[in-house]
Amino acid sequence: MAAEPPPTSDDREPLSLSPRTPPEVRVRRIHRRDLNRTWDFLKLCFRDVNRETVEYQRPRLKKRFLEVYEEEGVEQLLFETKIAKKDVIVGYAECAFEIVGSDNWMNQRYFSSRDMRPLYVEELAVHPELQGQGIGAFLLEQIEHLARVRGCTHLVLEVAENNDNALKFYRTRNFYKLDAAIFLAKKISSEAELLPPRRLKRAPPREVVEALEAASPSPARRKKPNGGA
Ligand SMILES: CC(C)(COP(=O)(O)OP(=O)(O)OC[C@H]1O[C@@H](n2cnc3c(N)ncnc32)[C@H](O)[C@@H]1OP(=O)(O)O)[C@@H](O)C(=O)NCCC(=O)NCCS
Repeated sequence: MAAEPPPTSDDREPLSLSPRTPPEVRVRRIHRRDLNRTWDFLKLCFRDVNRETVEYQRPRLKKRFLEVYEEEGVEQLLFETKIAKKDVIVGYAECAFEIVGSDNWMNQRYFSSRDMRPLYVEELAVHPELQGQGIGAFLLEQIEHLARVRGCTHLVLEVAENNDNALKFYRTRNFYKLDAAIFLAKKISSEAELLPPRRLKRAPPREVVEALEAASPSPARRKKPNGGA
């Protein structure tokens, strides 16, 4: 479980912002009372990404998100700024020192056999309207700092190949590909399940036709019971 927040090292009141003063972003550990609005924030951040990606959708289930708060060894960090005297979430970072959750596909032995002690980055998200201003860099720097002070050797994360913005963000920050499942697809031509009628090589022999007709006379030739045509 995330501990209650210790007093921050910097307790200054934020600067009163003129429209020209870029706001200050602060990081703190999440509290229980932040969970619902953080969940809403994550849904907003991933809305457009989810539309374009086939891999599992982010954020995970809300139930799972709430469980993570109770887990040991997971850091959930909120990045906030003050706008009109209100704390506004502008970023969220979640990382774990161990592979957590029963739905995780990662192979711990891959890392231990290579002397890697990864910090698993589970989530990085910046408010969609504030992307491209260095908040993502702050999130990543904070996580890298945490990894260093806790003796981790690598940051490891999963990103969809077609999440172009995020991929560019990671690539320019020296992330390299470990190995990955790539989602491949092939278009199957759409056809009727059953083949069309096919003409035989010969007409059926006359005896066969007569025998079939005798067995079940066609309605037109069947006599009416009262002897009429
Ligand atoms: C990926 C993400 C965390 C980056 O945050 P950010 O605040 O935009 O990052 P920064 O401003 O520090 O850096 C911007 C860089 O990231 C890239 N970038 C990513 N998203 C961007 C956006 N929407 N607008 C502009 N640049 C973006 C740019 O290439 C830019 O490169 P530069 O540093 O060479 O200029 C953010 O785009 C995000 O939350 N995306 C949606 C959620 C997501 O996909 N998370 C990652 C899942 S693995």
